[in-house]
Amino acid sequence: MTESTIEETRKQIRMQAQGTMSLGVAFIGIANGLFEALRQRGPSTAGEIAQHLGLDRDYVTRWADAAYAFGFLEREGERCVLSEKGDLMCPSHPKTLMPVAVGSVLSMHMADRAAELMRTGERPGEKVLGERKTILPWFGAMLEANFSGLFEQEICPNLSVFREIDQKNGTVVDLGCGNGWYLRSLARRCPGIRGMGLDGFEENIQKARQLSKDAGFSDRLTFRVGDIKTFAHGGPVDMVVMNRALHHVWDEKETVFRILRDHLAKDGAVVIWEPAWPENPADLREPRKRPLAMQNLGEHVQGNHLLRPQEIAEAFREAGMTPEIHLFSEGAEAVVVGRIA
Ligand SMILES: C[S@@+](CC[C@H](N)C(=O)[O-])C[C@H]1O[C@@H](n2cnc3c(N)ncnc32)[C@H](O)[C@@H]1O
Repeated sequence: MTESTIEETRKQIRMQAQGTMSLGVAFIGIANGLFEALRQRGPSTAGEIAQHLGLDRDYVTRWADAAYAFGFLEREGERCVLSEKGDLMCPSHPKTLMPVAVGSVLSMHMADRAAELMRTGERPGEKVLGERKTILPWFGAMLEANFSGLFEQEICPNLSVFREIDQKNGTVVDLGCGNGWYLRSLARRCPGIRGMGLDGFEENIQKARQLSKDAGFSDRLTFRVGDIKTFAHGGPVDMVVMNRALHHVWDEKETVFRILRDHLAKDGAVVIWEPAWPENPADLREPRKRPLAMQNLGEHVQGNHLLRPQEIAEAFREAGMTPEIHLFSEGAEAVVVGRIA
């Protein structure tokens, strides 16, 4: 490398580090409601915001300096004013950038855990997600903000399976439902469907119930705690969906696919949505796929790994079902639909 290329690379890496710092500052503002408070109250001093939110004044003062430095706040004398960029960090903004900040801090947490655990090979499992009590409450909202737009604008309109479920006013089961956003989104789109969401975490189910109630869907959507690997339901279901949940239970894929097939009505469909691990490692350099590599490191810590769409299709075939692979987001997201052959 020439001296000037080294200098150029140094500048580039330093700017990337500033990007990480800026998302760290944004995360603090999200996790403690600082952006939202400024959005609601208008220009306020750090002391006023701290008092309003019951936070420590000195910490809020330091945060306000950092948020100003990275352009999330403007200043009017002693008062802080939300900038346009800061407004975009508000979780209530329809185009919120909240998931980018939460995802960035989660990645750093996983990087730290991977750095330590690589020495022993230990894989502590999904409890690692809960180690940061500020991150965990944002996990569901992060997934919803990241993926509900893609679902509503591209996946739903382009897959016939969603028109079918709407026309037959069918029943949908969401296994590993998280905060239940997928069922809420489907219920909005398809006024006749009924849904049941299952998740292993009690907190997720409580959140899903609350959000469904707030959206007026309590009579059509129900949620319960349970394990996908032992799932059992009264009668046949028209659609079983799993979003970003299959890779959590892949170690028992034969059991899971048998459960999926056995619960399906004759003309029903299983719809599995997963990040698409590329067949060709060189694809990991593509900007849309690059984050998959970091996610997969975090998945490793949790005892999981990301799946290739063809592997999912093969599991459907082994269960006696016919798969169809659909790719979205420049190939970084896969929706695999399986029907009884
Ligand atoms: C990455 S999250 C996806 C959540 C949701 N489907 C979404 O798209 O927002 C994976 C979810 O699967 C749930 N999960 C993982 N293993 C499970 C199991 N064995 N039984 C039930 N739920 C499980 C987790 O609690 C978590 O909510």
